[in-house]
Amino acid sequence: EEPPAALAVPQAGSPELTLLRRVGVVDPESLDDYRAHGGYAALRRAFVLGPAAVIREVTDSGLVGRGGAAFPTGRKWQATAAQPDRPHYLVCNADESEPGTFKDRVIMEGDPYALIEAMTVAGYATGAHRGYLYLRGEYPRALRLLENAIGQARARGLLGDDVLGQGYAFDIEIRRGAGAYICGEETALFNSIEGYRGEPRSKPPFPVEKGLFGRPTAENNVETLVNVLPILTMGAQAYAAIGTGGSTGPKLFCVSGSVERPGIYELPFGATLGELLELAGVRDGLRAVLLGGAAGGFVRPDELGIPLTFEGTREAGTTLGSGVVMAFDDTVALPRLLLRIAEFFRDESCGQCVPCRVGTVRQEEALHRIVERTGAAAADDIALLREVGRAMRDASICGLGQTAWNAVESAIDRLGAYE
Ligand code: NAI
Ligand code: SF4
Repeated sequence: EEPPAALAVPQAGSPELTLLRRVGVVDPESLDDYRAHGGYAALRRAFVLGPAAVIREVTDSGLVGRGGAAFPTGRKWQATAAQPDRPHYLVCNADESEPGTFKDRVIMEGDPYALIEAMTVAGYATGAHRGYLYLRGEYPRALRLLENAIGQARARGLLGDDVLGQGYAFDIEIRRGAGAYICGEETALFNSIEGYRGEPRSKPPFPVEKGLFGRPTAENNVETLVNVLPILTMGAQAYAAIGTGGSTGPKLFCVSGSVERPGIYELPFGATLGELLELAGVRDGLRAVLLGGAAGGFVRPDELGIPLTFEGTREAGTTLGSGVVMAFDDTVALPRLLLRIAEFFRDESCGQCVPCRVGTVRQEEALHRIVERTGAAAADDIALLREVGRAMRDASICGLGQTAWNAVESAIDRLGAYE
């Protein structure tokens, strides 16, 4: 097993933390310790409010998905709860595979009961009695801690036929991924659970209507779910007062690369990229920052004033994605780095649709030629990259193909990577 995740939280123990407040503080193997640190207060409040009012609180809080796409969580829960078709399912997407993303792992290893409690609240609100936790296969410590937490919760009546004696039945099953990036795409994930190849389905219909086993399903990322706990304990209004009007609440950022203190940082939405990098101790000679992971884009060192919000990054022509902030100094060979990103997408494409299956190969070939030519690009290779990139973005079935050209495009347009 790898070292404990709490080591990846430079702010551990700080009183200003909300999402990470227990990480590195509680014993992740002890339900009693979780309760002694405020655990299960949110579920108790949920039972007092009832499902409809829980959804109202989540809607009023302004919470949007933290997996990368920022879809309003309250709207997703409302749409699932409203479906007459039964049963409903809850799926927690813990397949965290975006390069540079490791926030969900830190939560699951440092505060596993928080995820179990949050899934129970989500199941209650959306009318599900069964939750699936789809866990990245490469997270053995998280698996052990979550299995322990689920077992303890079951033994103490916090999962099972009669949760907290409230007449609500809910249980959680863990399913492990097997190393495919595409299985983090929500519908490929459903296929994987159902025993089929991990290939995305066309949307619509959206999972809220036809999801796991063809039933109404609320599918949420780990970080999204654990935000529901402070929403219920502090109330929607107090939660919505954190951050900005367009991006409410606290956010986890995964900082890595040329910084002194890499790790997970929790900040209210609205801090600037520069402020975050200062916290992490950015090193001299910064050349570029990759925002939002491989599916995101690069920004320049003179753009560190970009506010870390969904609206701020959109306005700046980039994306926050799942909160990846990867810093590169001038010792990094950009053309080689871009080739590595292209290899990743070519490798992880599920091959179901032509634009992505062929496009990711063509993109890698062009970048290979550029690297072989000591990093400078011929005009026809840039033109080819743009044409292939446009086809992938416009015609791919899922987010993988649609975003496989983002990083390369931003490196050409913002960094002048091949000049
Ligand atoms: P999406 O925008 O298609 O959907 C986002 C969510 O909203 C989905 O759950 C979808 O079902 C739901 N939704 C959208 N429209 C809806 C409607 N009209 N009614 C009901 N529900 C609706 O985005 P997608 O493809 O799910 O995610 C793409 C994001 O994933 C990218 O931003 C990327 O950064 C991120 N990503 C994150 C990874 C990670 O490890 N955290 C890995 C790879 C990508
Ligand atoms: Fe598969 Fe790529 Fe098509 Fe997505 S875009 S369905 S990963 S081939």
